[in-house]
Amino acid sequence: MKEIITRKSRNIPDGKELFEGISGNFKDFGQTLCELTDNAISNFRAHNIRGFIEIMLVEHDDYVDVTVRDNGTGIENMDATLTIAARSCAESALNEHGMGLKHALASINAGADQHWSIQTRTAEDAAHDRHQRVESPYSIGMPVYLVPGSGDIVDDTGTVVQVRCPMHKFLTLKPASQKDDLSFAQAASYLCEMLRYTYANLLRDEVFSILFTAVDKTGTSDDAWLAEPLEPIWRNGYTELPPVETDLGGGAVTIFCRYGSIRRSKKNAFYYKANMASSGAEIRINGRVIQHGLHSEIWGKALHPNQNRFIAQIDILSDQSAALPDTKSAKNGLREDDAKVAALFSWIRANVPEPVKDEGREQMLVRLLAEKKAAEAGVLRVSTEKNLYQCLKLQIKSDLFVSSTEGVTLFEAKAGGSKAEDLYQLRMYHDGCIADDMEVREAVLIARRHPDTVRALLAELNRQKDKKGRPYHFALSTWDEEGIVLPPDAA
Ligand SMILES: Nc1ncnc2c1ncn2[C@@H]1O[C@H](COP(=O)(O)OP(=O)(O)O)[C@@H](O)[C@H]1O
Ligand SMILES: [Mg+2]
Repeated sequence: MKEIITRKSRNIPDGKELFEGISGNFKDFGQTLCELTDNAISNFRAHNIRGFIEIMLVEHDDYVDVTVRDNGTGIENMDATLTIAARSCAESALNEHGMGLKHALASINAGADQHWSIQTRTAEDAAHDRHQRVESPYSIGMPVYLVPGSGDIVDDTGTVVQVRCPMHKFLTLKPASQKDDLSFAQAASYLCEMLRYTYANLLRDEVFSILFTAVDKTGTSDDAWLAEPLEPIWRNGYTELPPVETDLGGGAVTIFCRYGSIRRSKKNAFYYKANMASSGAEIRINGRVIQHGLHSEIWGKALHPNQNRFIAQIDILSDQSAALPDTKSAKNGLREDDAKVAALFSWIRANVPEPVKDEGREQMLVRLLAEKKAAEAGVLRVSTEKNLYQCLKLQIKSDLFVSSTEGVTLFEAKAGGSKAEDLYQLRMYHDGCIADDMEVREAVLIARRHPDTVRALLAELNRQKDKKGRPYHFALSTWDEEGIVLPPDAA
């Protein structure tokens, strides 16, 4: 055989296999639901309407019927909409991958037991008093029905996506710390929190409204307008940069950025908890959250527990998809291999200071003690910086040094319980003072509580004499005795 023979490969995907193949990239049902919500918002954005989205969940024994209804302008091109990875029908930058709708439906159920439908009504459909309908199972060349009337669409135009979600998939959004099984009502409340967080900036700007209804097995219906964005409660305000026009490598974007230290939210299940998972940088694109908890990716090291209150909120705005950082196809993270993402991280490094370490509990207690001592009569100097054992150039500092008309008091402070070694540490400060020719009136070990062993050692040390031949004056005190109480948000 001398010549090359060419034949066309038959590589048209099998619809069923393709549908199964794209499933399974969402971490939880919340992310899946956002894909359906995103499409409605994208349509509102593209057509400049202040739309309305209704999310309804109806509990059954082993599945939940999910409906997402919007009053947008309807699906213009159903063929492209049903085509996996088609981008031609994108309406706004929120339609990024040509995947979301199919990805969501397939992830909920791509097997033999798929139950879903899409109903939509455009102005043209309305003029003919009809709507378009497609339904499971997914296949290449699947039928699109033109059905008289408006179906489940309540306004003149709009779209309704319905999908039956197996219970075990529905119950996937839960805090890592929750070991107990989740109830339907709890799962619904977690979804509300997630939606209020994901779309916080859009809810704040009142770009659309969401009505969320959950109907449990007994038929009891619970509905709520998700009007209130989920936002951090800042501790001492925040720093806000003016909107920055820049280019991350694909065209003009505007970056909004604010950062600061937050109060720990006890109400929230997932967000702004001042823990490792919820702190660090939070990246949004056109108001919609893409990723949070970023720290080592930007600053090169893991968050220190003292930095857990740090939040930097970054929102990148542009109507041009090409200008925005690339997201993963499930829109649950930024793509590390995208140069625009690298440029964004450099921008953050350049403009947001590395998270400051929060004052630890012990430092805070010492500060409060210092403030209290400074206000007492006869006090001449209160310092956390006073060097002791200067004669030996040791440069050691006691936790607190207080000099008054009555002499010097030294403190060694422990936020929790004291230990025997702490007394020896205090003795070093005491000896350092004597060596520097300062008389010590008292050396106090202050802690939350003192075990009997510490009390015994204290009595033993007080029976000894310092290098000048005077007895030591060690004492124990507690934060309670000193009346030092941490503010509630320091807990
Ligand atoms: N609720 C809706 N209203 C109007 N158009 C929609 C709606 N949902 C989907 N579409 C159309 O379907 C297309 C594909 O959606 P989707 O599969 O989610 O892809 P993408 O990931 O790009 O958003 C969208 O670009 C839009 O044209
Ligand atoms: Mg989409």
